[in-house]
Amino acid sequence: MNICSIRGAITIEENTKENIIINTEILLNQIIEKNNINKENIINIIFSTTKDITKAYPAIATRNIGITDCAIMCLQEMYVEQSLPMCIRVMLTVNLDVKKQNIKHIYLKDAKKLRPDLTLENKGFAVAIDGPAGSGKSTVSKIISKELNFVYVDTGAMFRAITLYCLNNNIDCNNKQQVNKNIDNINISLKFENGIQQIYLNNENVTEKIRTQEISKNASVIAQIPIVRERLLNMQRNIANSNNVIMDGRDIGTNVLPNANVKIYLDADIDERAKRRCQELSLKNEKFEYDKVRQGIIERDDADKNRKIAPLKKADDAIIINTTNLSIYEVSDCIIKIIKENIK
Ligand code: DC
Repeated sequence: MNICSIRGAITIEENTKENIIINTEILLNQIIEKNNINKENIINIIFSTTKDITKAYPAIATRNIGITDCAIMCLQEMYVEQSLPMCIRVMLTVNLDVKKQNIKHIYLKDAKKLRPDLTLENKGFAVAIDGPAGSGKSTVSKIISKELNFVYVDTGAMFRAITLYCLNNNIDCNNKQQVNKNIDNINISLKFENGIQQIYLNNENVTEKIRTQEISKNASVIAQIPIVRERLLNMQRNIANSNNVIMDGRDIGTNVLPNANVKIYLDADIDERAKRRCQELSLKNEKFEYDKVRQGIIERDDADKNRKIAPLKKADDAIIINTTNLSIYEVSDCIIKIIKENIK
């Protein structure tokens, strides 16, 4: 028997006790299984977590999986700029009948990026759909995801949910410092029902509440704040890592999923986009003035296209579809055809 050190890491989706514990269990179980470890031969386990993980000790998971008689330590790491957020790392010292070079270190979810040499990519098929407000992204994405049984991820909803939190808590969306200070109190999670996204803000389903004109206006301001984009980027990539996705937004093809299998950029004339927005508002019995809706869209596009980080832009390898004179079904059929050609 040799004394061996085995490393591992995993990222989590949300800073909740359940998520911390379940992910730690997944990580420990994989390390144990892949290295054929007898639990009685574990000498000690050291965990460390990034500073944004605060709701539970990952060490609770060790007892849950039946490891009760080894030394355990759990630490929070110092803050390192630009480091991977929401990450749990572990080191096990084990008596093991294996040579050092045959030890299997385990890096899961976004932590794969830390050690790409030790992990196998297990990505699904990814379709990135970008474009300005009202170009038809979410309507066609819903149709395509249903037809192909892909998971539809509406990334705009994530920015909207953070905006809702700020508006409800008197946080000025223009004030980066105030948003930074509160970011750890904002917990966004997604659930998929029949492939359709439901979005939760601190465990409340806010899928409908985020569709107001006030939120639309402020979301493009919130979307300029680096910490907001950083947190959401991690979640977005994690979902695409383990599902076939249609993901729509502003920076999916350029930034979130630069290796997406299919990239589409939807566009339409401003008057057509304003008309579509007004139709949506009148269906919801909301009051509106055409000129104000049109001006609101122009201002949002301007903010989205001209921000410093991850602006709205067509990826070099994206296919442009101008939807001004096309029906929803003509656009969806065209994209489905492109996807099917790329799946072959
Ligand atoms: O698509 P939407 O209207 O729901 O998006 C709301 C805002 O969120 C939009 O004005 C810009 C921002 N956004 C972004 O910056 N990046 C994304 N990937 C998606 C949305």
